[in-house]
Amino acid sequence: MSSLKGLILSGGKGTRLRPITHTSAKQLVPVANRPVLFYGIDAMARAGIEEIGIIIAPETGDEIRDAAGDGSRFGVKITYIVQDEPAGLAHAVLTAEPFLGEDSFVMYLGDNLLQGGISDLVRAFETSRPDALILLTPVADPENYGVAELDGDRVVMLQEKPPEPKTDLALVGVYMFTGAIHDAARAITPSARGELEITDAIQHLVNTDRRVEPHIVRGWWKDTGRLDDMLEANRLILETIETRLEGTLVDAQIDGRVVVEEGARIENCTVRGPAVIGAGARLVDCYIGPYTAIGEDCVIERAEVEHSILLAGSSVRGLDGRMESSLLGRNVAIGRSDKQPRAYRFMVGDNSEIGIL
Ligand code: DAU
Repeated sequence: MSSLKGLILSGGKGTRLRPITHTSAKQLVPVANRPVLFYGIDAMARAGIEEIGIIIAPETGDEIRDAAGDGSRFGVKITYIVQDEPAGLAHAVLTAEPFLGEDSFVMYLGDNLLQGGISDLVRAFETSRPDALILLTPVADPENYGVAELDGDRVVMLQEKPPEPKTDLALVGVYMFTGAIHDAARAITPSARGELEITDAIQHLVNTDRRVEPHIVRGWWKDTGRLDDMLEANRLILETIETRLEGTLVDAQIDGRVVVEEGARIENCTVRGPAVIGAGARLVDCYIGPYTAIGEDCVIERAEVEHSILLAGSSVRGLDGRMESSLLGRNVAIGRSDKQPRAYRFMVGDNSEIGIL
């Protein structure tokens, strides 16, 4: 059993997933009907980590506490740590210093998903005992991430979102640190975006001759900060599900791998997996296509929905065209009324996006 601690960063603002994140934490947006944060907690639990600190923001912290609780259902002990303002990832580490002490720890960004978990990484860290271990993967748009330059297997330079990246190796949001990171985080100053960057703190370790070991990720990795990434993460996780039909099926055709949770009712519909239908959902006269996650208590009637994520309590009724590549927040209602004249009628929150194709 490992004596490492875990630190999950679930604070921050979530501006890129607005309007969903106006009212809710981005780390709780569900992927295949489970909050993205839970995959990180699971990965730590599977790697033998028993004590996890979760950084929360004052605005969304309660919601995260309610969702993850004391950690017992994951087999871990969770301590919540409030970060007063989203002043950066290295600031979050410093905020967690009383919890972490001098212990080594795995840091996991709460909106990241990493296939294959972190057990191999933890083993590598415990075997070679570097001061920090970072994960890297080639991406098409490195300017949106921390970027690393290597010389063989030595880290030479790390830069946060450089406008002209020197390599395509992005920093994945999973790191392993010893207590040395605290002094490094104290030594740096805020970046151009006003944050204490973990990238700069790791560069400080490199500059002071600490050993920073790079690992290239083999499986897939997703930062779920944007809609397209969220839909892709949903696809990747749905690819791994096995059929489980626990709800009520009446004249329902189920093709491929589909999960229907207990209490869901599907009547006169075709569901083509991979797809998950949450508890208490009601589907009538509809088609649900591949890569769709329907949340708890959603209602779909006389409509076609594909490659989409619907959060709990949403409804879609009487659409002529197929709804696809969409993300609906909680309790969103989309439907046709019988009133004349035929027109579009919207009541939509700030920063929403509606595409009529
Ligand atoms: O996803 C990988 C990238 O994550 C790395 O390549 C970058 O080097 C790293 O800086 C980070 O970039 P982002 O701009 O995507 O980070 P973001 O602001 O989305 O924050 C990541 C997570 O940490 C998110 O769950 C929110 C949380 N957070 C963020 C800040 C700034 C906190 O808990 N506290 C904070 O102060």
